[in-house]
Amino acid sequence: MSLFDVYPLYTIAPEKALGSTVWDEKGDAYLDFYGGHGVISIGHSHPVYVKHITEQVNKIGFYSNSIVNPLQEKLGNLLPKVSGYDDYTLFLCNSGAEANENALKLASFHTGKSKVLAFKNSFHGRTSAAVAVTDNPKIVAPLNAQQKVVFCELNDINTVKKEIAKGDISSVIIETIQGVGGLDEGTQEFFQELEKTCKTNGVILILDEIQCGYGRSGKFFAHQHHHIKADIISLAKGMGNGFPIGGILISPEFKPSYGLLGTTFGGNHLACAAALAVLEVFDTENILENVTKQSAYFIDKFSTLPQIKKIKGRGLMLGLEFEFEVAELRKKLIYDKKIFTGNANNKNLLRVLPPLTISQKEIDILFKNLQSCF
Ligand SMILES: Cc1ncc(COP(=O)(O)O)c(C=O)c1O
Repeated sequence: MSLFDVYPLYTIAPEKALGSTVWDEKGDAYLDFYGGHGVISIGHSHPVYVKHITEQVNKIGFYSNSIVNPLQEKLGNLLPKVSGYDDYTLFLCNSGAEANENALKLASFHTGKSKVLAFKNSFHGRTSAAVAVTDNPKIVAPLNAQQKVVFCELNDINTVKKEIAKGDISSVIIETIQGVGGLDEGTQEFFQELEKTCKTNGVILILDEIQCGYGRSGKFFAHQHHHIKADIISLAKGMGNGFPIGGILISPEFKPSYGLLGTTFGGNHLACAAALAVLEVFDTENILENVTKQSAYFIDKFSTLPQIKKIKGRGLMLGLEFEFEVAELRKKLIYDKKIFTGNANNKNLLRVLPPLTISQKEIDILFKNLQSCF
């Protein structure tokens, strides 16, 4: 049976990886400045991560959510400490799309409304039916979903207020920094006004921190740069350093009841072991400090390249904008220079999402190789 052909592939088959390096089946080493869509947070096959997962699989890999799982409790105790969301609760699932789907569902149950306000060029995952939120024409949302989602321009608070004033919006969902869309970010003034507008109108504010969260911006959550709080925060990607795990942090306003949300695999033992290993390394290796330090170094260094028009993003979620489309440059970096980078809806943007453990030396290697492409 062949695979359903939905992914254009680069002809590289990674076989093993360590830190920021990936080796293919021929033994060629690649420097990873993309981390499989921004998933690798503490570095590939980090020894603490491997130890936690291996020990766990030797005990028990999975059992259902109808038993006590102390690893979930441990994660639930640690997350408030690192995120500052002390009184929030945690619902665990398996992916970003699922996290957002649960966030939107919960908002809808809570408000008794179903319409969602999202932003142009946003990406919140390929969810089914009622909650596919995207205005990207490449990702065709089901018709009924499009009818239920209203899209506003980022930073256009007046239109947001007008839409909310109609009284039928359940929730606003927004990425603090747009990932797939091309690293645009709302202004601080916009975010603070958005928070206020949602609060005064009983609209649930959902911050999608699936890509920009979990340390990638230099703070645990990117929206913390804007001094705002959300009612629900969705997580995935870096949370498991490659192991599929997602979740939502839920404000105490929401009252749980049995059966309200649910999942078979969400919060399984192995996924929790992976997520706990990530948080342990965040603590022992001062990951957030490394993000801030390497980000400043990266921006300083790459700003000297005359071909770069603009550097977008924050922390280690960066986009190098050129005057030309970057598809060929990206191919050259992968096949000739053996460096993975990413792309975005903005075709002139080279997206950089390295492991949060990236070093100055590795940034220098990218710089030298990129420079030699011109
Ligand atoms: C901001 C954002 N939200 C949601 C998703 C969907 O996550 P997943 O692919 O795990 O379903 C992504 C994936 O790229 C994302 O970047």
